[in-house]
Amino acid sequence: MARACVIGWPVAHSRSPLIHRYWLQHYGIDGAYEKEAVRPEDFAGFVGALADHGYVGANVTLPHKEAALRLARTADAAAIAIGAANTLWLDGDGALHASNTDAYGFMTNLDAEAPAWNEGLGAAMVLGAGGAARAILYGLIKATDAKILLANRTWARAKSLAHRFGARVEVIDWETRNAALATCGLLVNTTSLGMTRQAPLDIDLGALPREAVVTDIVYNPLLTPLLVTAAKRGNPTVDGLGMLLHQAVPGFERWFGVRPEVTPALRAHVVASLKPEPA
Ligand SMILES: NC(=O)c1ccc[n+]([C@@H]2O[C@H](COP(=O)([O-])OP(=O)(O)OC[C@H]3O[C@@H](n4cnc5c(N)ncnc54)[C@H](OP(=O)(O)O)[C@@H]3O)[C@@H](O)[C@H]2O)c1
Repeated sequence: MARACVIGWPVAHSRSPLIHRYWLQHYGIDGAYEKEAVRPEDFAGFVGALADHGYVGANVTLPHKEAALRLARTADAAAIAIGAANTLWLDGDGALHASNTDAYGFMTNLDAEAPAWNEGLGAAMVLGAGGAARAILYGLIKATDAKILLANRTWARAKSLAHRFGARVEVIDWETRNAALATCGLLVNTTSLGMTRQAPLDIDLGALPREAVVTDIVYNPLLTPLLVTAAKRGNPTVDGLGMLLHQAVPGFERWFGVRPEVTPALRAHVVASLKPEPA
């Protein structure tokens, strides 16, 4: 029986088990997917003994994604460019390999939900410069020739992220984000604003063309205040849950040998878990 897990600290909130256990059952696979709460100081030891713990591979979530990349013998181009890994697997010789599937998840979902997002795209705006933004910039740079405007509350963090990706990414002041929307055909929120128990994203969509696609990678709530406002004014919108579902596909295939599908039934299964948390 193949076993995989998600490793995080904390890990209780992870929805990866919901997704992978759904697929295991759906495809009738004799496998298991567990949660492993591992402290940062114990991570290298845990991963070094992954096989002894009975695992063929793992997802890695905060705060271990950078360490996961460092510990792997090989890493794919996405993980190297992003500087972090979210998927690990052991080969037949016990060597550890790493991938980052966040960019794949984001782009696959965007292509599926808004297939025309890149047609006549003037510029794209990415809000936020944290770990998720790194993956999204990597995905966008590969998928489009359009200019990418990056705005973040902390300018220095945006600058350092843009530096990583070169001249294709132009940093703009956080305060100028509203006016800069006028040239944008795609708006991506990668900040944590809009999440349950967080303030909504403070943005005025007035200048944004009505045909511009608006997407939020926050998925709890599914309809963030940003997506609600955008939909009300007629912009096509894409929520963040699809990214989470699609990023899980390559890992499941590696560990369990079946390429799983992201279906409406899987989506409904995970949506059912997005109940508002008690205050
Ligand atoms: N859908 C998916 O599959 C998926 C995948 C990964 C992450 N996510 C979600 O994406 C969000 C970001 O994740 P992350 O790992 O990138 O987090 P992170 O590294 O902590 O980055 C957080 C970002 O939000 C910004 N921010 C936080 N509070 C702010 C405020 N009050 N005003 C303006 N900006 C603020 C930060 O700006 P500063 O730099 O100024 O602090 C930073 O750019 C989270 O909600 C996470 O759940 C979703």
